[in-house]
Amino acid sequence: MNSKINSFSAPGKIILFGEHSVVYGYPAIAIAIDKRARTIISSENEDKRGFLHVPDLYPNNFFPFIKKENMPRDIAAHLKIIKYFTDSSPSKKLPYISITSDIPISAGLGSSAAVIVSLTKALSYYYDTYTSLDEINHIAFKGEIIQHKTPSGIDNTIATYGGGIYYHNGKIVNISVPSSSFYITVANSMVKRNTKDLVLKVRQKYEKDKETVQSLFIQIDTIVKEALKAIKEKDIAHLGELMNQNQKILDKLGVGHPEISKIIKIFKQSNSLGAKLTGAGGGGCVIGLFHKKEDAIKAVNRSRENNYQSFLTLSTNIGVKKDE
Ligand code: PMV
Repeated sequence: MNSKINSFSAPGKIILFGEHSVVYGYPAIAIAIDKRARTIISSENEDKRGFLHVPDLYPNNFFPFIKKENMPRDIAAHLKIIKYFTDSSPSKKLPYISITSDIPISAGLGSSAAVIVSLTKALSYYYDTYTSLDEINHIAFKGEIIQHKTPSGIDNTIATYGGGIYYHNGKIVNISVPSSSFYITVANSMVKRNTKDLVLKVRQKYEKDKETVQSLFIQIDTIVKEALKAIKEKDIAHLGELMNQNQKILDKLGVGHPEISKIIKIFKQSNSLGAKLTGAGGGGCVIGLFHKKEDAIKAVNRSRENNYQSFLTLSTNIGVKKDE
């Protein structure tokens, strides 16, 4: 048996280019960021064994590992993953699991995937299953399906491996994002939204007018490929322009929001090279690209003055890990 209390964490992410079209098999570019979700797994505390606690969301609920009717969708996803491990070692005493996160929730920063990936890693450690990163990613993807129905897989992939990735149809190419040559800010519109509903909204638009929506996806595809080139060539100004173009298409797909437009304006007034929503949109977070650190800080301060949660973000190469 491993030591009594252990903590495992996985990073959130920002999608630089290609959200929504990625669900239809087009490529996207994402980087892991320095905000993490954490699973604490413990064999101490006899009376709490066999229970899951998610204090940020359900402070007063301790969910038994047995799935019941009408569970919140996120808890149902967590329980499914827990069951996967408990079924394989029925004789082992159940752990107590507590999940926390410093990634803003329902805001487009991949918090649900980071939680699921950290949970999967924690369980594989507790049950001594020596699960590889590829397997963790695979199991976490199943949890994402319960939560978001038709996820592209980009969120769980970045939470598992960290770093920067060019993601295409489940395949990844690691990319080195030259983060020393630019700054990225995040501002949270504080408009809560739901990935599943937004993905469905785009799906309905697609079913209604395949030709138009397909042509928007193809435009995003071109942007993503150009962005990959711009990243390699460290052409930051062009990267910014491409973000603005990507945003225009996301607006056409119907996933913009007046608060997103307001934040983009604030970023522009602070000399952003480009800005766009990140994740599913409909609210959630906006990212801005800046050449100078002082402009990025100005953008963060102005966003905060307008009551948006905002921060300068750094990319991280550290994927899921056991915390010290
Ligand atoms: O809002 P998030 O962090 O769940 O990101 C969703 C990204 C989408 O492309 C809209 C969906 C997906 O599964 O890739």
